Amino acid sequence: MAKNTRQKENQTQTETTGHEWDGIEEYNNPLPLWWLWVFAATVVFSIGYVIYFPAIPFLNSFSKGIGEWSQYKQLDDIMQKAEQAKAPFENKIVHLSAQQIKNTPDLHQYALESGKATFALHCSQCHGAGGGGAKGYPNLLDDEWIWGGRLEDIVYTITHGIRSAHEDENSRDMGPMMAYGDEEILDKAQIKDVAHYLQTLSKKYLKPNESTERGKVIYAENCASCHGEQGSGSQELGAPSLNNAIWLYAGDTKTIIETITHGRAGQMPAFGQKLSENDIKKLSLYIHSLSGGEQ
Ligand code: HEC
Ligand code: HEC
Repeated sequence: MAKNTRQKENQTQTETTGHEWDGIEEYNNPLPLWWLWVFAATVVFSIGYVIYFPAIPFLNSFSKGIGEWSQYKQLDDIMQKAEQAKAPFENKIVHLSAQQIKNTPDLHQYALESGKATFALHCSQCHGAGGGGAKGYPNLLDDEWIWGGRLEDIVYTITHGIRSAHEDENSRDMGPMMAYGDEEILDKAQIKDVAHYLQTLSKKYLKPNESTERGKVIYAENCASCHGEQGSGSQELGAPSLNNAIWLYAGDTKTIIETITHGRAGQMPAFGQKLSENDIKKLSLYIHSLSGGEQ
């Protein structure tokens, strides 16, 4: 069979290269014309490419190419285009207050989108990706505000920070929550009693009993001046409300005892130097929109 085939091939008189392995011969056909053209085109292309683009590595540099193309330049171009697209909005926002921006629908929409991006970059590591917060880091999605939820309050908080006087002397700081245990203002039993009282105040776990009654007296004497008679808190002092189920540091008895014993002084950095006024306005609008905010 093999022999027959070879004989057939031989009959075609095709020129061979003269190489032969085990009876297999190599034809010497010309390359297909289309292949040659493609090959020539790639050669021409590569010469053009080397001339136009950076291509040849030297010891400490490389050929820049007459097009002077670089990824840095490409990125710059893209950024410049993005800046140009934003410019008309940013130029208007500069002259408006957060409230005025809110009243201008297309600017407001732009501010929310932009604020969301800034939040992801600068705020989410503490307040959570969606603003949900964590223990010690307030949830920004609810309508409970330690320092106030009006637009101007939020702008102020972001600009000056909280208990960050080393960064901004106008930072929000009306004193921390004192360490009633460590400073021996209250003893352990008293702290337990007042913690139990807070559980009735927040309308949760406990019904009034002897301990909560004692705690009520301690509360009125020691705590009401900041947290309010009924535990409604004070935004001026940054004292959280204690009469609902929303807690900055968790509302189980153990955590509350920990808070009263050792005190608390949550800190947030000031962003006035790090972000532009426009950025802060946009962020504030974004946060205000998350929670519904205060008017
Ligand atoms: C390093 C952590 C940290 C970062 C980053 C941070 N925050 Fe805060 N933020 C806090 C803490 C802690 C508090 C609560 C402080 C306290 O105990 O009163 C707070 C409070 C707030 C409040 C007040 C909430 C209220 O109930 O009144 C707002 C508004 C706020 N942050 C917005 C932001 C925004 C916007 C950013 C990003 C620009 C940001 N935060 C970045 C830690 C942080
Ligand atoms: C001088 C004002 C002041 C007084 C008086 C005070 N607190 Fe506070 N308290 C604060 C502040 C401010 C905070 C918030 C601390 C922070 O943001 O880190 C706080 C936070 C708390 C919290 C945490 C609330 C949460 O949401 O997790 C509890 C609980 C609390 N106080 C209980 C008490 C009790 C009980 C007393 C009385 C024995 C008391 N406080 C007296 C200012 C005060």
